[in-house]
Amino acid sequence: MPTVLRNIGLLASCRAEAAPSDLFAIERAALVWNGPLITWVGRDEDLPEAYRAATAEDAGGRLVVPGLVDCHTHLAFGGWRAGEFSERALGRTYSEIAEAGGGIASTVRQTRMASEAELLARGRGFLDEMVQLGVTAVECKSGYGLTVDQELKLLQVYRQLAEDSAATIVPTFLGAHVVPAEYREHRDRYVSLLIEELIPAVARDRLARCCDVFVERSAFTVAEARRILTAGAAAGLAPKLHADQLSDGGGALLAAELGAWSADHLEHVSDEGIAALAAAQVVAVSLPLASLYLRQPPMPARRLLEAGVPVAVATDFNPGSAPSFHLPLAMTLACTMQGMTPAESLRGATIVAARAIGLADMHGSIEAGKRADFAVIDAPDVEHWLYHFRANACVRTVIGGNTAWAA
Ligand code: NIG
Ligand code: FE
Repeated sequence: MPTVLRNIGLLASCRAEAAPSDLFAIERAALVWNGPLITWVGRDEDLPEAYRAATAEDAGGRLVVPGLVDCHTHLAFGGWRAGEFSERALGRTYSEIAEAGGGIASTVRQTRMASEAELLARGRGFLDEMVQLGVTAVECKSGYGLTVDQELKLLQVYRQLAEDSAATIVPTFLGAHVVPAEYREHRDRYVSLLIEELIPAVARDRLARCCDVFVERSAFTVAEARRILTAGAAAGLAPKLHADQLSDGGGALLAAELGAWSADHLEHVSDEGIAALAAAQVVAVSLPLASLYLRQPPMPARRLLEAGVPVAVATDFNPGSAPSFHLPLAMTLACTMQGMTPAESLRGATIVAARAIGLADMHGSIEAGKRADFAVIDAPDVEHWLYHFRANACVRTVIGGNTAWAA
């Protein structure tokens, strides 16, 4: 039986083929879905006769947007690092903290001590809150285990979350987050472990969809990343990169060379890197919460958009550089810090984000044939929503046709 949502003040459909700033918005809209799929969307006055008798729900004249897609998170981790937040307030940098044994290495120690059950319970809690914000799909990276067993433990947590959460989970293998302390003098052996043991194990059990590498002086070189991502791609894992975050390390160029699904961060991307991303049409994932927390200049999103690069917006949720999963906040920051318009920001957190994690065929826009994933927002339009930032303006989240949360 179809369900009809009527009295929608404005529906921002975010159709895939529209321009980056075009929300393809419909005023006084209606939306119909049957089971998990959208069957009709358009102006209320054009609602086909057959649907007029169907069960009708009322959106109260509010805004309806596609379910938000958080295309970059590090959702499963042990402990927190609030102490580093205070240290950075006093001027210590992220890199200084990492060199002293804190940072990612600290979370690796805490994650290794956490059981699968603990990580699962925490992950469920985070996801529940994300869904309340209108998020319906989440990419989740491993990368705080850095041994065979510990990385597989994190990916098993994501497999379990995918089974019991309403939200869609896209797991990414980030064994190449940093070289773990025990391999510091033998980094080649760690790269071999990734290529010869971990990638095959992850691919065999289909535990991840993508493979990510942190390309940075403190992490992996371009040459190492090329080897790891090429091995991942050969095993069926789509390449993604943490690129040019703390320095211009050539990550954007490598993403373009490999035809990566996305290049993320790019705070220090070069002009050459931008041109390469545009030519290869690699999605640039903007993570303004990380720039805010690390007190760094953000990715030059306006320049990327103007060069023709598709720009997504995500949270980077993790215990260090971005300890928040508030995607609507990241979307507001993309406007205030990065010169993205509210329309570009919403497209960035829906259809473009879906593309960055291989979900654009069924997610990211409100179109007949796609999944009925959407959020009802208590605002008259997208501009007002992102301008008047509130703890939560989302009043209802529908995933696969079912109400996953309602205020
Ligand atoms: O995306 N850049 C590397 N990884 C994360 C930070 C992880 C952490 O600080 O724990 C990031 O910012
Ligand atoms: Fe990240």
